Amino acid sequence: MTDLLVLGTDTDAGKTAFCSQWLAAFHEQWEYWKPVETGNSDTATVRALVPGASVHAPLKALTEPVAPLLAARRAGDTVPCVATIVAARPTAAPGRGLLIETFGGPFSPLDEADLQIALVRALACPSVLVSSSALGAIGRTLQCLDALAGSGIRPLAVVLLGSLDAFAAEQIGKHGRVPVGSLKLPAAWEPAAIADSARQQSVALQDLRGLLPREGEAPAEPRTRESHDRRTARQEPRPPELGPRTPRLESRPTASADLQARDRRVVWHPYTSLCAPDLPLPCIGAEDEFLILADGRRLIDGISSWWTILHGHRHPPLVQALHDALAQIDHVLFAGVTHPWAVDLAELLLQTTPWRGGRVFYSDNGSTAVEVALKMAYQYWCQQGEPGRTRFVGFEAGYHGDTFGAMSVSRDPVFFGRFEPLLFHADIVPVCADRLEAALRKRPGEVAAVIIEPLVQGAGGMRMHTPDELRDIVAAARASNVLVIVDEVMTGGGRTGTLWAHQAARVVPDLICSSKTLTGGMMPLAATLVSPMIVSAFDSPEPSGTFFHGHSFTAHPLACAVAVASWRILTEQPSLAPARMEEFWQASLTPLQELPHVRDVRIRGCIAAVELNVPGGYLADAGRSMRQLCLQHDVFLRPLGNVLYALPPLCTSPASLERIAAAMHHAVRSIADRA
Ligand SMILES: Cc1ncc(COP(=O)(O)O)c(C=O)c1O
Repeated sequence: MTDLLVLGTDTDAGKTAFCSQWLAAFHEQWEYWKPVETGNSDTATVRALVPGASVHAPLKALTEPVAPLLAARRAGDTVPCVATIVAARPTAAPGRGLLIETFGGPFSPLDEADLQIALVRALACPSVLVSSSALGAIGRTLQCLDALAGSGIRPLAVVLLGSLDAFAAEQIGKHGRVPVGSLKLPAAWEPAAIADSARQQSVALQDLRGLLPREGEAPAEPRTRESHDRRTARQEPRPPELGPRTPRLESRPTASADLQARDRRVVWHPYTSLCAPDLPLPCIGAEDEFLILADGRRLIDGISSWWTILHGHRHPPLVQALHDALAQIDHVLFAGVTHPWAVDLAELLLQTTPWRGGRVFYSDNGSTAVEVALKMAYQYWCQQGEPGRTRFVGFEAGYHGDTFGAMSVSRDPVFFGRFEPLLFHADIVPVCADRLEAALRKRPGEVAAVIIEPLVQGAGGMRMHTPDELRDIVAAARASNVLVIVDEVMTGGGRTGTLWAHQAARVVPDLICSSKTLTGGMMPLAATLVSPMIVSAFDSPEPSGTFFHGHSFTAHPLACAVAVASWRILTEQPSLAPARMEEFWQASLTPLQELPHVRDVRIRGCIAAVELNVPGGYLADAGRSMRQLCLQHDVFLRPLGNVLYALPPLCTSPASLERIAAAMHHAVRSIADRA
């Protein structure tokens, strides 16, 4: 294990508190050493607080609680110089590293000749910078980072110690371009409380450990190209070669550390800033409603892995279906070729629609299912001799995916504002039949279709409307002779209580988009279900009647095989889980409505959402804080800004549902306490 240097922005940053918690979590991998100390002995404190840790004696202990140089002068003593301290550095047991606590701030005096930064450089090992989250944390930390950069030292991470301050963490991460972790102080300065605190914050500690380099490897580069360029332009000195001084026999870092450090270097995650302060959770497995992390923790997947996992992770009938299909086939193109899995699935899907007949057009994700529907709707009108129908109507807070057509009918300023000049014409109206009617009246013969997420607008904040409202909206579209596309990418598969959400309103759409749960979440697949009326317009031998659209992985046989298994379960043994969950959410979460900072509690089927009255919308800091608060309960939720919601797999046990509700209560109430 590599050595780790613990720097502090200043004397009271909390270095010893950090070291105690680190050792409580990892005392089998690190040994403690504070080379120079003054006043009350931190070495003795750590020894008492973490009895299991291996603690080395300081090289110099001075009694007066002032700066080492001053304490030494007053005692008629000297502080050991850089070379002496480096030479005295203890060798940790094989497979372990040293956790070296510095004293004061990096620019406090060391001895008569040097500031401590000279020692920091000479120790030449990865470092973390501990900073108190008390008022002034942002400026204090950024100044220290900048000064350290000037001396060629780039900590792997900043650790904000004290009460959680998501804003400070965000700002330090953004401007300091460094990962930022947050650690709370223990409830008491006694061994049990330290151990407890380390256990409760194991994710944050593991995240930090994940940044450490592997043996013989340069540490993760926390800075971006921009800051690298800045450094080069300013001719800043390059940092000293980091890593352990001498090769030793070491245990490999855990899968967690390894994965996160490598990820940080090479992967670009969706909807995630490259400067995001939080490391991704290292997930090495999944079963039922749980995600299994590299350190063995089992988190409840409270949002079904972005709403995809329907029955539960690795649901045995689906695993079996995949296994069986794989014994026969992998992938084949779908133009001019067919296979039984695609045909079986299309037959199953069409039995669930309100039409007799129709067709299924396959693709491979929700956005492409929508793209297909939009293009088909337009081409339908072209084939009816109405090529002027170039517009679509979508709804406020709607979300249909990230491809250009899908963005055009969603128009969310946060997600898509940047691309506005590139989007095609669409009118976006409130979810209200009258407003839709008015919009359509203004554009007779210009609109090809209306697209709506029936009953629940997912990414827009789990906003809900009633079946009656949906019925009126569809009626308004029909009255203007406009096609209706229902985007059931999130709602399909029984999430809202009926197999398709639009069934609750007994409406008949022209096109239905499905993905996410189509394979029970196991494989990527999408389907656009097309009504017979639309199909008939394409039923022509003319080339103009062809729908020129397709994807390499259209109707992937393995995905289709899994989807067949999933839809057989759905149609042959309809689950009672959505109704049970709805009842549970009503009982457990509606009381939150009473809190003054709760704007709304919305529940339908498996879905429960609590919207807070805090500023920031989708970008609200509260979102990140609530995510972390839920993780303390081993519940993984990913709030949509100020909307905390759950949408767990159908298999979720009553105990896990209780845990999700408890985590949501904790998160919502904690935000109130901070407001
Ligand atoms: C209603 C709806 N449509 C389309 C999409 C896009 O799906 P995908 O992310 O698979 O492209 C989403 C994704 O969240 C969605 O919720």
